[in-house]
Amino acid sequence: MIRTILTYPNPELKKKSVPITVINDSVRELIRDMAETMYDAPGVGLAAPQIGVHQRVIVIDISGKDEPPDLIVAINPVIVHAEGEAYEEEGCLSVPKYAANVRRHARVIVKALDPDGAEKTWKADDLLAIAFQHEIDHLDGILFVDHLSVLKRELFQRKARKAAEEGR
Ligand code: NI
Repeated sequence: MIRTILTYPNPELKKKSVPITVINDSVRELIRDMAETMYDAPGVGLAAPQIGVHQRVIVIDISGKDEPPDLIVAINPVIVHAEGEAYEEEGCLSVPKYAANVRRHARVIVKALDPDGAEKTWKADDLLAIAFQHEIDHLDGILFVDHLSVLKRELFQRKARKAAEEGR
């Protein structure tokens, strides 16, 4: 089922998510819904709090338009190692019509559980490394705009307020 994606400045996006203790049918249904919602949007990643569920699970698919889908599901993901620097443009399904460059690590190692409860490790670089950092941030209530400089963030907030007023 496609779920509604919450958008900035919805306060639900600022809440910290809790670890998943049991991978049961409702968690598997949540994951299916998240993947469906991400592909429908379309986006390259989605974290559970973006659909108002404060549990630590993310889905990512960075495969290109002409490539077969390559879905990553990470339950309770943890960045165990990070190195290098990246400064790439990011967007977010929860921050529509806005993109900005964000400082991230260029390479990360992520450990998580897969939907079968098996431990998985990803060595990620480039777009995948950025996607992991962006989605894991969501689990801690952090949006990519929170990483911007004070000046850039103020410009963004002004733009968002204006867009909200025009939408009324
Ligand atoms: Ni996002």
